[in-house]
Amino acid sequence: LMATQAPVLIAPAMNIHMYENPILQENLRKLRRVGYEILEPGEGYLACGYEGKGRLPDPEAILDQIRWQLKKKDLTNEKLVVTAGPSREPLDPIRYISNRSSGKMGYALARAAARRGAEVVLISGPTALMAPPGVKLTAVNTAAEMRQAILDEYATCTGVVMAAAVADYHPAQFSADKIKRGTGSLQVRLEPNPDILKELGQRKDGKLLIGFAAETGNLEANAEKKLREKNLDMIVANDVTREGGGFDGDTNIATIIDRRGATRSLPLMSKDELADHIFDHLLTLRR
Ligand code: C5P
Repeated sequence: LMATQAPVLIAPAMNIHMYENPILQENLRKLRRVGYEILEPGEGYLACGYEGKGRLPDPEAILDQIRWQLKKKDLTNEKLVVTAGPSREPLDPIRYISNRSSGKMGYALARAAARRGAEVVLISGPTALMAPPGVKLTAVNTAAEMRQAILDEYATCTGVVMAAAVADYHPAQFSADKIKRGTGSLQVRLEPNPDILKELGQRKDGKLLIGFAAETGNLEANAEKKLREKNLDMIVANDVTREGGGFDGDTNIATIIDRRGATRSLPLMSKDELADHIFDHLLTLRR
């Protein structure tokens, strides 16, 4: 197995306590880090007589995973900067202002792009997620740090996918000491953050720029306006009030709008699937 140049998929199946053993989990993490794909076992009756996580997934699920892993390498000419997660704007050493964002959409995009052969730099705010194999991860906190990390890669990239939920404001003042509770109300003055994507749109230089628009109404009109204002090539709009299309989950319901005015409304699907649709659309723009 170690000698093969082919992609490798491992489907572990065993007793639940063996599977949960920290030594085994550490070994799985090690394998993931070097690029092996691991298919999580299913839950249910185990051959040893226990109930729990450890069942070999259904053959259909294994086949699906193999098909996905063998997907065409059609992004080998791209170096993509993908941003993910929230930004965190500190008030004091303990508190910060942030946005709701799990980072799952951005990580799914980074994973799909890397699997399809792109060189990927993932610039991520704080999340609970692990960097996908083959992706260079740069961890940031504030919008200003995210902006700088993007600019450091901008000259050499072919496109930017801006899935991060960047805070629009940061506290005007950072208190080096913890702000103590008082009796009256507390006012915090906020200063605007740079609109990173808009800035990139002003110096486009042949790069493809993809933005996201999380909206609570007037989806297409708002998204289209952002596409024009920020000089983007594509915007992925989703209505966060719809079931299955909000934050934190593994699914999304999105509408893709591009600079030519083409609009594509996609049904509910996993964030991994949506990532592939977004890159399929990117390739139509390249052509
Ligand atoms: O916040 P807004 O809805 O305008 O975000 C649309 C797009 O702009 C998103 O892709 C987001 O990542 C990006 N953005 C940014 N810098 C900001 C705010 C948003 O790049 N300060």
